Amino acid sequence: MTDKDKKIKTEFIASLVRLYGKDRSSLLPVLQEFQKKFRYIDEYSQQEIADALSIHPVEVNSIISFYAFLYDKPRGKHTIRICKNIVCKFHGNKELSKFMEKKVSEFNKDKSEESKITIEYVNCIGLCDRSPSMLVDEKVYEKINPHNAEAILEELS
Ligand code: FES
Repeated sequence: MTDKDKKIKTEFIASLVRLYGKDRSSLLPVLQEFQKKFRYIDEYSQQEIADALSIHPVEVNSIISFYAFLYDKPRGKHTIRICKNIVCKFHGNKELSKFMEKKVSEFNKDKSEESKITIEYVNCIGLCDRSPSMLVDEKVYEKINPHNAEAILEELS
């Protein structure tokens, strides 16, 4: 990371701390906003956030590790989260997962890291009555099957 990149990140963190306040309860919104802009929270920025909020960097890292929606490593352009819980399993998420793995693998072929799609398996996302369900970035999709999943993937390309 260049000095210029560090400066940009440090200034952005300072602006978030001004917005949300300089105490521990600001940690989560600061992390979320930071990630929205930079896509993941690197080690340098974790330290800067800890310093700005006067907390230990281990605390920052443990919050990132705890929440599935926070990342400390670079990720692709889109994240697809497929529910792996029992109701979605019962309604066919196994076929959906198999299909998505295959299609995403084809999609990611020859793509740069920033353009790739990441698949994650998550616990119930609260749409059991419309299962199988999944999230693409922050958008919810219900009653997914390989047919409508293909159309969703096409939207992402
Ligand atoms: S079990 Fe899949 S959304 Fe609840």
